[in-house]
Amino acid sequence: MGIFKGVEHVAIFSADTRRLADWYVQYLDMRVIQDNGQGTLFLLMADGSIVELIPTPGGETASVLPQPKESGIHHLAFAVDADNFGAAVHRLVSEAEAEPVGDTPRHFPERLATFHFRDPDGNILHLISRGNRLSLAAPLMLSAAPKNTLLKGIEHIGIIARDPDSLRQWYVTALGFRLIVRDDGRGTAFVMTPDGRSILEFTQAERDRGVLPYNAPGLRHIAIAVDPEDADRASRLLKADRVEVLEEYQKLPNGQHLFYFRDPEGNVLHLIARAETFGGVSHVHCRYDRH
Ligand SMILES: [Fe+2]
Ligand SMILES: [Fe+2]
Repeated sequence: MGIFKGVEHVAIFSADTRRLADWYVQYLDMRVIQDNGQGTLFLLMADGSIVELIPTPGGETASVLPQPKESGIHHLAFAVDADNFGAAVHRLVSEAEAEPVGDTPRHFPERLATFHFRDPDGNILHLISRGNRLSLAAPLMLSAAPKNTLLKGIEHIGIIARDPDSLRQWYVTALGFRLIVRDDGRGTAFVMTPDGRSILEFTQAERDRGVLPYNAPGLRHIAIAVDPEDADRASRLLKADRVEVLEEYQKLPNGQHLFYFRDPEGNVLHLIARAETFGGVSHVHCRYDRH
C-alpha cells in the first residue's frame, strides 16, 4: 500500500455539535468516542467509520443549505442491509423527523435502494442498500463500536465536481485511490481508498457552490490516514503536486501529525497520523490490499 491509506474520518461543522451528536447517536447509530470538552466530538459507527463534529467559530448556521447536484463534499451515504432498509427509512421519517430530499426513497435494479434526507442542520445524507457491496473490506470488529445497528457505517462520501473525470483522476494519481466502478449512463464513478474501507463517489455538478471557508457550516473535510513516519513525506509530495496548503505540516505534542490542504476543486482534506489507533481503528494493517 502507498503512503495514503484511507479515510480516517469526515468532518461536519455545526453551530450546535452536541445537539447534532445526540441526533446522530439516536437515529444514525453512532457512538461518541471522544469529546474534547469544547464542542468537538468524534463519533464511531458499527463498521469503524468515524464522523468528527466541530463547532463553527462564531456559532454560525448555514445561511444557504446545500442543494442536490451542487459542487463540493456533498453527502454521506450510510450502508443499511436490504432487509433493514424500510425500517431505517421509517425511523428517519417517523421518529427523527428527517426532511426527505427530492424524489425519495427510490428502488433500482439489483436490489439497490436509496433514501435521501437532511439532518437537523440541513446536511444532505442518504441511506443506501445494495445487492452487491462495493467495499472490499470486511467490517472491523471494534469493541468500542455500536452493535446490532440498522446503519452499518459510511458506504460512500459523495463529491459533486465541476469536472468529475479530472478530479477523480487526481485522487487516483495523487493519493493512490483506485477506480472501481464507472457508470457513464448515470455519470457517476466510484473510487476506493487503498485500505479498501472507504469509497468516494464522483458526480457531475449542475451548480457551482464556489470554494467555501474550511470552517463553514456543513460537511467540510475528509481526513486521510497516513503512518506517522510517512506524514512529513506525504505532505511534501502533495506540495510538490502544488496543492493549496491551508495549514502547514505539523506534529502536535500529543503525537498527531497534521497537514491541511485543498484538492484541485477546493475541497478540504487533511492528512492525519496518530501515535495510537483511534476508536480501535487502525489503518496500519491492511488485509485488503491487492498490491
Ligand atoms: Fe451518493
Ligand atoms: Fe478532521
